[in-house]
Amino acid sequence: MTLRHFLSAADLNRAEAEALLDRAAMLKAAWRAGQVNDRPLLGQTLALVFEKPSLRTRVAFEAGMTQLGGHPSYLSANDIDMGGRESVPDVARNLSRWVAIIAARVFKHATVETLARYATVPVINALSDREHPCQALADMLTLRERFGRLQGLTLAYVGDGNNVCHSLMLLGATLGLNLRIGCPPDYRPAPDIIELTERLAQEHDATLAITASPVEAVSGADAVYTDVWASMGQEHEAARRRPVFTPYQVNTALMAHAAPHALAMHCLPAHRGEEVTAEVIDGPQSVVFEQAENRLHVQKALILFLLGK
Ligand code: CP
Ligand code: NVA
Repeated sequence: MTLRHFLSAADLNRAEAEALLDRAAMLKAAWRAGQVNDRPLLGQTLALVFEKPSLRTRVAFEAGMTQLGGHPSYLSANDIDMGGRESVPDVARNLSRWVAIIAARVFKHATVETLARYATVPVINALSDREHPCQALADMLTLRERFGRLQGLTLAYVGDGNNVCHSLMLLGATLGLNLRIGCPPDYRPAPDIIELTERLAQEHDATLAITASPVEAVSGADAVYTDVWASMGQEHEAARRRPVFTPYQVNTALMAHAAPHALAMHCLPAHRGEEVTAEVIDGPQSVVFEQAENRLHVQKALILFLLGK
């Protein structure tokens, strides 16, 4: 079997992404029905190398691995000090001798790329400064459950053109969504991500529009997504970013421009009163805990896919 990693949402082609979502839906149904006797990963270990905090990603991987019969081993910066106590290549080469698969949450995307270069087991990007592809998988499953399809849906992302936005763009375009990004001119998605998304959109009968107007972005949209204004590692920029992003807050007035059936989405954790109001995120349009729940099921499907199970 060829070694596959999942560093970017663009690492899956359309057929693979669709099959992975199908698998996740099956795993979810089985889990909900209490059918948990299958232990395909008995005796296998997932190493979780995390340089930053996490609730959803960590617990979804840990619970998922347990449910599949395997074992998670969580390694924080305090445990292994990757790049300090030990080089990134050496961490990859050591872990590959013990575990079946690695998931890494890193500051710099280059770190997860280096892990993948030196590992002889699959490496999953559990969030970097460039992408958050596991999140995008859960978001697509959530949209598919709610609308029964993905092709042709309009997804608006309002706020920072960051890691979460990048992965949504890439996977969304692969799965045929029309994407509208509303962001301040200085916080647009990275040029190479825009270029790749445009190419994927063309291939899959989808569209990409980027605007500085939040109203234009959400107008008639089926779902409105936002994320924090200052990501992990950017906390020192929070005060400078706040006034720039204030016009991009997802509130009831902005949601009124979306379709009446529009969903409100957020990867969490959220800052109520900043990028989203409590009224929206705790209101009837919000699907944020469905997104969080789906992290478990897509990450289980992803582990099985990468291990060829
Ligand atoms: N959405 C998400 O990745 O949450 P955590 O940072 O808690 O893992
Ligand atoms: N953009 C956020 C997402 C957190 C899940 C961050 O990188 O901190």
